[in-house]
Amino acid sequence: MGRVTLGVAVGVAVVACAVAGVVVGRRVRSRRKWGRVVGVLRELEESCETTVGRLRQVVDAMAVEMHAGLASEGGSKLKMLLTFVDHLPTGSEVGTYYALDLGGTNFRVLRAELGGRRSSILSKDVELQPIPQHLMRSTSEDLFDFISSTLKQFIEKEENGSEFSSLRKRELGFTFSFPVKQISICSGILIKWTKGFAIEDMVGREVVECLRAGLIRNGLDMEVAVLVNDTVGTLALGHYHDADTVAAVIIGTGTNASYLERADAIIKCQGLLTTSGGMVVNMEWGNFWSSHLPRTSYDVELDAESPNPNDLGFEKMISGMYLGDIVRRVILRMSQESDIFGPVSSSLLVPFILHTPFVAKMHEDDSPDLQEVARILKEKLEIPEVPLKVRKLVVRICDVVTRRAARLAAAGIVGILKKIGRDGTGGINSVRGRSDMKMKRTVVAIEGALYTSYTVFREYLHEALNEILGEEIAQHVILKATEDGSGIGAALLAASHSSYSVDSVQLL
Ligand code: BGC
Repeated sequence: MGRVTLGVAVGVAVVACAVAGVVVGRRVRSRRKWGRVVGVLRELEESCETTVGRLRQVVDAMAVEMHAGLASEGGSKLKMLLTFVDHLPTGSEVGTYYALDLGGTNFRVLRAELGGRRSSILSKDVELQPIPQHLMRSTSEDLFDFISSTLKQFIEKEENGSEFSSLRKRELGFTFSFPVKQISICSGILIKWTKGFAIEDMVGREVVECLRAGLIRNGLDMEVAVLVNDTVGTLALGHYHDADTVAAVIIGTGTNASYLERADAIIKCQGLLTTSGGMVVNMEWGNFWSSHLPRTSYDVELDAESPNPNDLGFEKMISGMYLGDIVRRVILRMSQESDIFGPVSSSLLVPFILHTPFVAKMHEDDSPDLQEVARILKEKLEIPEVPLKVRKLVVRICDVVTRRAARLAAAGIVGILKKIGRDGTGGINSVRGRSDMKMKRTVVAIEGALYTSYTVFREYLHEALNEILGEEIAQHVILKATEDGSGIGAALLAASHSSYSVDSVQLL
């Protein structure tokens, strides 16, 4: 009996030990897995580090590259394109003007009635349409037929049968937000596509010619008064409302900036004559590159797998087209390193499946159990039910990637201010440190969904701007969000460059 009892006791003890062993083993394995995931996160955090010291190096590099791009054609990865916009709307513009705004995820048609007094846009009508995906890779004829027929329907609806003066054609500003080498204010050649567009027959062609042909095919007789980049439209609207506006930045699907430059600083165009002594320069800053940019292995992979490797390095770290995919790549790496997300989901392997607005939603999920994060992981990435600590991890990834983007954008803005001597240091050639020279009120117009609709992004950008410039200088720098500036600005520029305008020459 005693032996039997002993035997049972030993048996129970053995089983208990085995179970305990399994449990402990599982815990150790799960801790190891978690440790690996935390390791991936730490590595991400370190390689995305944007200390103020590093940001200031980016500022300096941006200012130096701007100089190089203005000095000679091909002198820098920054193209520093001439826009032929040598005067900006002042508020005296009158009349009805149309605009087409093509460049991101959406396409807009607008009509603005201008009243002739500063800030008096009497009315504006905007129609927004998502660009059908297939048109982004189709032919120029298909694209411009779509644009022209949308414009035609819009005009018919807006004018509702009323007669437009037969003495003058309707005038149109065309916002085309891709790198264009302008030949004049109303013509230019497409250098390359960005933001997922790939209509091969258009590269190297004159953009306004393509539009005009589309308008004619669709029975529209209009004057294309100006061809502008979206940053230039935004600058025009910013300046229309506030004459201290010196630059404009877009942070949306793509990213870019333009600013007012002195004509004599545009060395690559010796003898450039402008009525105002200045010209708006389209930087195409998405192409900016510097060894000071904090680059991760995810950026390297994203770039290598993109249709344009070694191109658009800054844009690939900052803009809405790419942030979602960087986050997806980090989650994928974690999922391959451990099974905290369950088996690797096949959706997670699909490039660009996670759009940046979902990153913003996950990042800004303030529900206690991060329900939005769980929903997006499930619906977009087919990762069902993950525990709260894993959801928190996902929020942290979004935070690291977004914070880096916002802080780099801030450094880019300060780079421009430095180039034009508005960063409080006396400009790029200054040997002084912070100077006591009087800082002028300096306004930068800004648009794009990352800035306007992603609160955390905007806050990080402002925070970095303050850190880089210091509170004292930063209080003179105002970032002003404009609305529909890319389109309305084109209508304003069409007005200020109208062939019917008697007073078309104004000073900046
Ligand atoms: C384009 C720029 C544009 C920016 C913002 C970039 O991809 O190259 O021309 O201004 O996106 O839309």
